[in-house]
Amino acid sequence: MKNASELLEFDAGHLWHPYAALRNTPARFLARSAQGTTIETADGLKLIDAVSSWWCVAHGHNCLEIVEAIRKQSEKMCHVMFGGFTHEPAIELGERLVKFLPKGLNKIFYADSGSISVECAAKMAVQYQFAKGHPEKCKLVALKGGYHGDTAGAMALSDPDGMHTLFRGIMPQHYFAERPNCRADEPWDDRDFASMEQVVAEHEGEIAAIICEPVFQGGNGMWLYNAGYLKRLRKLCDEKGILLIFDEIAAGFYRTGPRWGMEHAWGTPGAAGKDCAADVLPDIMTIGKALTGGHMTMAACVASEMVADVITNSKISAFMHGPTYMANPLACAAAIASLDLFENRDYASRVAAIEKRLRANLEPLRNLENAADVRVLGAIGCLELKAIPTSDDILRVIKETGVWLRPFCNYVYTMPPLITSESEVDRICEAIKMIGQCEPGPVCDDEFHE
Ligand SMILES: Cc1ncc(COP(=O)(O)O)c(C=O)c1O
Repeated sequence: MKNASELLEFDAGHLWHPYAALRNTPARFLARSAQGTTIETADGLKLIDAVSSWWCVAHGHNCLEIVEAIRKQSEKMCHVMFGGFTHEPAIELGERLVKFLPKGLNKIFYADSGSISVECAAKMAVQYQFAKGHPEKCKLVALKGGYHGDTAGAMALSDPDGMHTLFRGIMPQHYFAERPNCRADEPWDDRDFASMEQVVAEHEGEIAAIICEPVFQGGNGMWLYNAGYLKRLRKLCDEKGILLIFDEIAAGFYRTGPRWGMEHAWGTPGAAGKDCAADVLPDIMTIGKALTGGHMTMAACVASEMVADVITNSKISAFMHGPTYMANPLACAAAIASLDLFENRDYASRVAAIEKRLRANLEPLRNLENAADVRVLGAIGCLELKAIPTSDDILRVIKETGVWLRPFCNYVYTMPPLITSESEVDRICEAIKMIGQCEPGPVCDDEFHE
């Protein structure tokens, strides 16, 4: 058995981590176990996971119900190809999702990660337009400041000036509109839509779909925007015969308050699952991350009946995608158990309580000398700094406070598990404040500046 320092030594020499160099990175924590809101390291540190392990561990770590569902399923069947076979976990999950998702979005394509579900959504939109006799409509419009994943097709839809510019050469080329600037708590300003209208007017004949993250742009800037934008998008898409894709991978599953980010644009937020036919709905929607409560990797691309019918009734009636691990039974079992929890627990109230504590603690941080902005919505809180401290300072705060934060660029943010208690939220905010009070370090010196 290797000891902790031997394990870390091998790790640093051989294992790539997300957006990090192989060697010369700041010290890593060796996670040994995780339970509820807390990750325990090999040297006994107990850290509140204030970022839900990149926003997926909604019900907390090692959630008993989900672990038990995976265990039970593993005794019967761990995997079988979904081509030519189907199975009960996939079917039961499908039935559950049809009820859980907004009405009308009921044709489900299981994918193995969020990025892949975005790839599927883009392909589905293009295949839809092809089936409608418009092979020339093969471009998408996305928003500046967006993030949709790290595979080539998903990078191509993410912020064009962001972290993926190095790979421009292998990305399909799409069009971009300015990100909406109008904030959630301001009255909607229609001038915010001008850029999108202009992009669509210039390229109308080529556009298959518009994609956005509803009200919350996560991975590229923790930006929160006015839901009026979604209403204008729906209207424009209807007028122009363009499909609308909502990427709910980050905003979905109560992260912003209601079940779906798009609900902020509904007459009655919180009406998910009920008859919301008159509300702002996409033609295609992607979900992932919290779908399995962060216990297995799984995502889905979900289409409306209309989109599925057009593809199904065309010459190439199959949707042309098929990952090896599609509908993995263990992941399906985890997702079913996770949906049980989303349905049976009152997460809307829990998130409202988290939001209240985040506002109370983070709003005063506007007065810090290094603060550029504070943003809060649902179980999302972000302190944007003028300049980020050194990684040494960030690591010191993490150890001192027992709160795991993972700032990127100038954003010190929290998206805690939805089970996080109010006193834990207070501790998280204290750690954010301490980072905000550190001396700014040199620009982009290491992996906290990914
Ligand atoms: C909105 C959004 N879409 C897609 C993705 C990609 O998901 P994954 O990392 O599971 O590929 C993410 C991940 O952060 C995301 O936030």
